[in-house]
Amino acid sequence: MGKLRLAVLASGRGSNLQAIIDAIAAGELAAEIAVVISDKEDARALERARRHRIPHCFLDPKEHPGPGAYDRALVALWREYRVDLVALAGFMRLLGAEAVRAYRNRILNIHPSLLPAFPGLNAQAQAVAYGVRYSGCTVHFVDEGMDTGPIILQAVVPVRQDDDPETLAARILEEEHRLYPRAIQLFAEGRLEVVGRRVRIKDK
Ligand code: GRF
Repeated sequence: MGKLRLAVLASGRGSNLQAIIDAIAAGELAAEIAVVISDKEDARALERARRHRIPHCFLDPKEHPGPGAYDRALVALWREYRVDLVALAGFMRLLGAEAVRAYRNRILNIHPSLLPAFPGLNAQAQAVAYGVRYSGCTVHFVDEGMDTGPIILQAVVPVRQDDDPETLAARILEEEHRLYPRAIQLFAEGRLEVVGRRVRIKDK
């Protein structure tokens, strides 16, 4: 079998995309990025793809109005680029049922909290406001819900007394950059088995 072909979807900064690019370059992740897709024309993630000569495209939501249209356009792109696995990396649109169904258990997301705590937007601010002592990040399969799919890996970071959402986000982000390539590598090795809502990690 050839290398795992990834699509990375990002709306903004793209630091997780960069971590994936770097892990591939370092030989820690046996995959290739087939395409980077963004719903924002000015996403820094697209700039990173350009710099690394990775195929990339801006998929304009305005050109795909109506229920399910954007999802269908995404799936068409994934097929066109013969994508094996989709990695959401700061992609700010909720995927619809059509996309999830078409790539069931082949879409991953990274979320900056220990799910099921603090799903949705501003997870780091939610954690600081709630007063938890630990937070972290989660890589999970994407299902029809918001940040609800089966959990693959999590990493824990302490929340410090003087943290604000930005300082906590920075501490979590460091762990994100380690965790996401590891989770993708497990998928590439065929070691993830979804049983109900639990993910079993098979031995090598
Ligand atoms: C990360 O915190 C990720 O967990 C969340 O969105 C942020 C994306 O950051 N889903 P970046 O674009 O990868 O730098």
